[in-house]
Amino acid sequence: MSRLKIAVQKSGRLSEKSLGLFSSCGIKLSNGDRKLMTVSSNFPVELLFLRDDDIPHYAEEGVADAGILGENVVRESLCRVETVERLGFGSCRMSLAIPRDEHYTGLTWFQNRKIATSYPVILKEYLHNEGISSAIEFTGGSVEVAPGIGLADAIFDIVSTGSTLLMNGLREVEVVAKSEAVLIASPVLSDNKSCILEKLLFRIRAVKSASENKYILLNAPDRALPQITSILPGMKSPTILPLATKGWSSLHSVIREDEFWEIIDRLKMAGAEGILVMPIEKMIL
Ligand code: PRP
Ligand code: ZN
Repeated sequence: MSRLKIAVQKSGRLSEKSLGLFSSCGIKLSNGDRKLMTVSSNFPVELLFLRDDDIPHYAEEGVADAGILGENVVRESLCRVETVERLGFGSCRMSLAIPRDEHYTGLTWFQNRKIATSYPVILKEYLHNEGISSAIEFTGGSVEVAPGIGLADAIFDIVSTGSTLLMNGLREVEVVAKSEAVLIASPVLSDNKSCILEKLLFRIRAVKSASENKYILLNAPDRALPQITSILPGMKSPTILPLATKGWSSLHSVIREDEFWEIIDRLKMAGAEGILVMPIEKMIL
């Protein structure tokens, strides 16, 4: 039986989290010394460890069947690959940054200036749409040092925590795009490999929904239940169980992580007590 070859970043922002995704999907990998590739012992996949910039090309040509990388790299490559799932980790911005002490006057600041970047395609398109003409200096790595050594006036790069900019005396002035890790697929997958990809996607989605949601339990007086139920946008309707204390019930449901705090406050106001919020490991919808 064939295996799905998935390319992941050899070293960088996304490598650890990419491997973590496989382990939370129950896929065992002997990653050990991270050679060129590794085969799973319990799922038909093998991982290829590559430079992220090379992944779209390998996927387009079918050398890799799929890949996990930043969507910024996919966009920049102009390769014909299919983005099958946004993975919800490795979020970052693609931003323009200038030396900290420069007085920033808006986008026209960049007019006739030189910008260093590893993402000339995305930058060119943005500047063109904004009607700004700047010189673009392509740099394969360490873009952030360019202004300091006089190679450029500004940079266009990935910003995640912002510490790289800070350490190099730069300041983010325009967010051009947002990016996160995505799963891409080759346009030339066999039926057999498409089928493995579907199975993998099923697991990834279960893990992703679980991490985006929390399991919530609370106690409330029976008269407060209609209002509390209307606040909770659970999977279906919440489970309600009677408590030993007469007139009280325990209510179980699922809430989205991002709605969490707002909903907790409203639940308390409606009369909920003993609220427990717990992580969910897998969620099959
Ligand atoms: C990016 C970017 C910066 C860094 C920014 O590199 O080039 O060096 O991350 O992160 P920070 O704001 O948290 O300091 P990336 O890991 O994407 O790898 P690359 O070498 O392929 O560009
Ligand atoms: Zn890269």
